[in-house]
Amino acid sequence: MLIFAIESSCDETACAIVKDGREVISNSVFSQIKTHRKFGGVVPEVAAREHLESIGPVIKETFEQAGISPAQIDAFASTAGPGLVGCLLVGLNAAKTLALVHNKPYIPVNHLQAHVCANFIDSDLNPPFICLLVSGGHTQVIYVKDFDNQTIVASTIDDAVGEVYDKVARLMGLPYPGGIMLDKLAQEGNPNAFKLPEAKVGEDEFSFSGLKTALLRLTQSFKDKEIPQKDICASFQERVSDTLIKKTLNLADKYGCKTIVTAGGVAANSELRKKLFALNDRGYKTYAPAMKYCTDNAAMVGSCAYFNPIKCANPLEMEVFSRA
Ligand code: KG4
Ligand code: ZN
Repeated sequence: MLIFAIESSCDETACAIVKDGREVISNSVFSQIKTHRKFGGVVPEVAAREHLESIGPVIKETFEQAGISPAQIDAFASTAGPGLVGCLLVGLNAAKTLALVHNKPYIPVNHLQAHVCANFIDSDLNPPFICLLVSGGHTQVIYVKDFDNQTIVASTIDDAVGEVYDKVARLMGLPYPGGIMLDKLAQEGNPNAFKLPEAKVGEDEFSFSGLKTALLRLTQSFKDKEIPQKDICASFQERVSDTLIKKTLNLADKYGCKTIVTAGGVAANSELRKKLFALNDRGYKTYAPAMKYCTDNAAMVGSCAYFNPIKCANPLEMEVFSRA
């Protein structure tokens, strides 16, 4: 089954053609990072307008890359939410229009489920497994019993991990989006240079606001002196990745899961991947999406449309939604 998928929930206009949920035939991403950098974050109204401008060219490029015509597509999919409403509307209306014009089904997809499904691309992964989902807007551990049977078994009570990465990066004077820059600097620093606090919360909770405050105090303590950027980044990255992996591992054991996967933009983080893959030596099987399928993309939407679409009686009446 060939699915043409669109992702437009935030600041990436992306399209992909995916075969049977696992094989990516073509994949295009147009990132708006340059536009939003001068504002230090995504401006929803500006993002929606950019999606409108780029959606046509990105659709065209995706078909050209694949050498496939719209008539050969079996279904058209898009992210329906959660995300920025004005942005989601662009992708959803484009996908519905393509479906209507070519007389094929439209398949709505949940953005968070799509991140999880990025792990099915080019892999032999099958449920059950435990998934650590870490993105700019969400931090959750999900027990995936089956493709369409999932339970959130832990989530953040304040900030999402990606959000904290971006805020701490801004504190250090790094440009938006800070996560990837912070990760790069961290790799050159000493992870034990500063002892940072770990939140004392339940096994089904994450909390990062205390860590954020500790970093604010730490950076301020240098006053006029130069901030040891690399060591602070490395210590922050160590604290975050250690907490995420420890909690996920505990929950995997609690639910009797020997397979652990990660997903979302922060799944691209070097230290998180290192700690996750190290669990292979302890009898676990671990997976993470290829780097290009961690941050927002449409290949994961195409996979999710195949494995775990939003179930609704009349998909063409599906509307966008901002929150999970
Ligand atoms: O999944 P995503 O592309 O968008 C959302 O659905 O939110 O995630 C974006 C987040 C941003 O906060 C970004 O800073 C973070 O993922 N990110 C990283 C890395 N690459 C992207 N955070 C830490 N290390 C990275 N290498
Ligand atoms: Zn995302």
